[in-house]
Amino acid sequence: MSTEISITIIDQNGLQQQLQAPTDMGLSLMEFLKGNDYDILATCGGMALCATCHVEVCSPTDNMTEPSADEWAMLDTLPNITNSSRLSCQLRLDQLPEGFTARILGDGLSV
Ligand code: FES
Repeated sequence: MSTEISITIIDQNGLQQQLQAPTDMGLSLMEFLKGNDYDILATCGGMALCATCHVEVCSPTDNMTEPSADEWAMLDTLPNITNSSRLSCQLRLDQLPEGFTARILGDGLSV
């Protein structure tokens, strides 16, 4: 079984990039994005408490886990929530489908 998936990320400037994401390291999408120098504050360190890691999932969400009650509660505070908003700290790379695509909507240092 492959230990990488191909994902596409669109940053706050609309720049689209395809990345190979490891599925065997227990990383969240937020940790992976920060590790790839995306501009995400992630102030709470992945506790679903700051919402600065907000992303909009652009690929089909059929096979993905549903947001937890905590994640929903935090997403609900956002002015720019969409139908497919998620907190990237609550998405584990090993649970994402091949071809996953997301747009970063959260606050970065330069926002
Ligand atoms: S890093 Fe704070 S909610 Fe995701």
